[in-house]
Amino acid sequence: MSNRSIVSISDYSKEKIQYLLDMSAEMERHPNRRILQGKVVATLFFEPSTRTRLSFETAANRLGARVIGFSDPKATSSSKGETLKDTIKMVSNYADVIVMRHSLEGAALYASEVTDTPIINAGDGSNLHPSQTMLDLYSIYKTQGRLDNLNIYMVGDLKYGRTVHSLLMSMCKYSPTFHFIAPKELEMPMEYKEYCAARGVKFVEQRDFTSETIADADIIYMTRVQRERFTDLMEYERVKDAYILRRDMLCNCRENMKILHPLPRVNEIERDIDDSPHAYYFQQAGNGLFAREALICDVLGITLDDLRNDTSII
Ligand code: CP
Repeated sequence: MSNRSIVSISDYSKEKIQYLLDMSAEMERHPNRRILQGKVVATLFFEPSTRTRLSFETAANRLGARVIGFSDPKATSSSKGETLKDTIKMVSNYADVIVMRHSLEGAALYASEVTDTPIINAGDGSNLHPSQTMLDLYSIYKTQGRLDNLNIYMVGDLKYGRTVHSLLMSMCKYSPTFHFIAPKELEMPMEYKEYCAARGVKFVEQRDFTSETIADADIIYMTRVQRERFTDLMEYERVKDAYILRRDMLCNCRENMKILHPLPRVNEIERDIDDSPHAYYFQQAGNGLFAREALICDVLGITLDDLRNDTSII
């Protein structure tokens, strides 16, 4: 079935990404509107979430839509054996948009194939997290004034981290230099390195994480080592503290370097960095509201011109 679902944004052109950035900026100027009055947004979270679910629900509410859904699949009929296909087909009877997080890679693509209702992928296993990527791109664009030719350091769990996979694929359009810093067990998977190589994108893999090695960074994208992705907890214990960003490591940084993190954080960014001008992760999460307002409107066919001419602004 074909519809306006957002399963991945890696195929989006630079023009489409710029268009969504412009929509996000328009939402930031006027986040409260009634442009979705009469619409219903379903949020189906088969995996835990704080930011993604609450920011999608806030986005829908601030635009005048109503929200249905669940955050605990145990309280739904999937616990009685109802299939994902049946669940999606059912919810399609009720909602205009379905925002879904699922532990299985490919679940969002599958869902988009069994319904005409637009699906927004809110994370599928360790695969992709496109709405996070939109807010990451918006955060980079806002803080750096551009997306082109940036030095981007990705640190931590690069193997299971769907946020870094999604961001890498989108940033490849903008001639970045990537630095991948991860323990051997959590290295960036070969498919993503090949993705860079096929597009002539420079990347360096390194184990050192010091004030010297991060001195030329424009963006340091920290990630959590995700306990829930490990089958061997001994291995998790071995690698969980491999890379911790400390305040004294920022002494040689570029003035406008920003630290991003999709959150939640455990201990990979020390708390005393939070009030540093380099820390941007809480503002980044705040940008999620505007990016997700833009994405919901986009899948419903509401254009940037519609937003600019909107008379329902509150
Ligand atoms: N960044 C992110 O996906 O956070 P949540 O898991 O809290 O939604």
